[in-house]
Amino acid sequence: MISSLRGMNDILSEDYERFTYFINTATKIAQKYGFHFIETPLLEETALFKRSVGESSDIVGKEMYQFVDKGENDVCLRPEGTAGVVRAFVQKKLDKAGGIHRYFYHGAMFRYERPQKGRLRQFHQFGVESFGVDSVYEDATMIMMVADILSACGIGYRLQLNSLGDSNCMPQYRDNLVSFIDSVEDQICEDCLRRKNTNPIRVLDCKNSTCQSLYVKAPKLINQLCGDCQEDFEKLKSLLDKNSIAYEIDTNLVRGLDYYSKTAFEFVSDDIGSQSAIAGGGRYDRLVEFLDGRPTPAVGFAMGIERLMELIKMPEVEREGYYIGAMDDEAVDMVLQLTQKKRKTDKVTCDYKAKNLKNHLKAADKANARFCCVIGENEMKSSTVWVKDLQEKTEYSLLFEEF
Ligand code: HAM
Repeated sequence: MISSLRGMNDILSEDYERFTYFINTATKIAQKYGFHFIETPLLEETALFKRSVGESSDIVGKEMYQFVDKGENDVCLRPEGTAGVVRAFVQKKLDKAGGIHRYFYHGAMFRYERPQKGRLRQFHQFGVESFGVDSVYEDATMIMMVADILSACGIGYRLQLNSLGDSNCMPQYRDNLVSFIDSVEDQICEDCLRRKNTNPIRVLDCKNSTCQSLYVKAPKLINQLCGDCQEDFEKLKSLLDKNSIAYEIDTNLVRGLDYYSKTAFEFVSDDIGSQSAIAGGGRYDRLVEFLDGRPTPAVGFAMGIERLMELIKMPEVEREGYYIGAMDDEAVDMVLQLTQKKRKTDKVTCDYKAKNLKNHLKAADKANARFCCVIGENEMKSSTVWVKDLQEKTEYSLLFEEF
């Protein structure tokens, strides 16, 4: 038997209903916020992710599904959605057009991670990207949109917030941090030694407990923000307070992608185990420029749909449509005829195998149909259908032409 690859799941039946319910709910909310759908390819040039997500990140360094295609192009399956959207934005010259452009997307992402509960190699994100708004009001709006989507799905969360500074304050902080790392260099892990040279702030995110205990004493960027970043961060907090969005400041929140500056945030759930981040995002004002576009402020987020699946509270589904079945082989033709007629206006499930009434009622219930309709020998003689309304619990017969 051939099975699916490790960390790559099928989505069907009840899971699929949850999956589409989430996407439909999130889509409606994103549209209310004025965002438009964008679809970008699953496969992109590897250079796109190297330049955006960053060579020092684990995603690019270790987790890419990268290969050379038949035309000798170095390509990879997208590990995230932001880079592709920015590439499309620049390619379509929307950066030159100016103004505000807001997009949402959903689809599969690929990261060659070690699979475990909540950590897949193919997973799905719902994300949004906003271009052209150089204001912390937009950052607050992003956070409120995630909160709205989660609330609409009945999902509780904790919001973690940090500021990653900008090109004014980050370099000075990085120097201070490197001096600190030098002072504990003989005690930190191999990964952190590498991070010190590639992207030192990434050490703050290290999962090694010895490193974590050492970094408690590390300088905090939040205490060294320049005036502009400090003002934005204070404003963001006050906007969230005014809109009753609770948050925790997490000075170690550096995010796993290199393109962020200023606002960085993560929504976590305490109900799904160790892979607890259900959404993450932030501001990335330099990325459009890094990808050869005109400098354009931008901010966005993405939510991990698989991690949300078990948390979504589905609304009560009402019984809908018809189930039609035959109790006699002679009635099967009529089942097909009536099914096709009814399908012009209603949802219909049917069975082409003759069965007894009890089995049809069971099948109608499983299909969540409102009406269980059966045709047996007697019904064929009288040209009628026997109908049971499974909601109102009533039974009656209808002539074929009335049905
Ligand atoms: P990210 O934090 O890497 O951000 O991913 C966003 C969400 O995707 C995570 O919070 C998590 O729920 C889910 N996720 C990530 N990796 C996995 C995995 N291996 N298995 C299952 N779920 C996963 C981004 O991708 C950025 N592009 C977000 C963004 C958009 N920032 C600005 N705009």
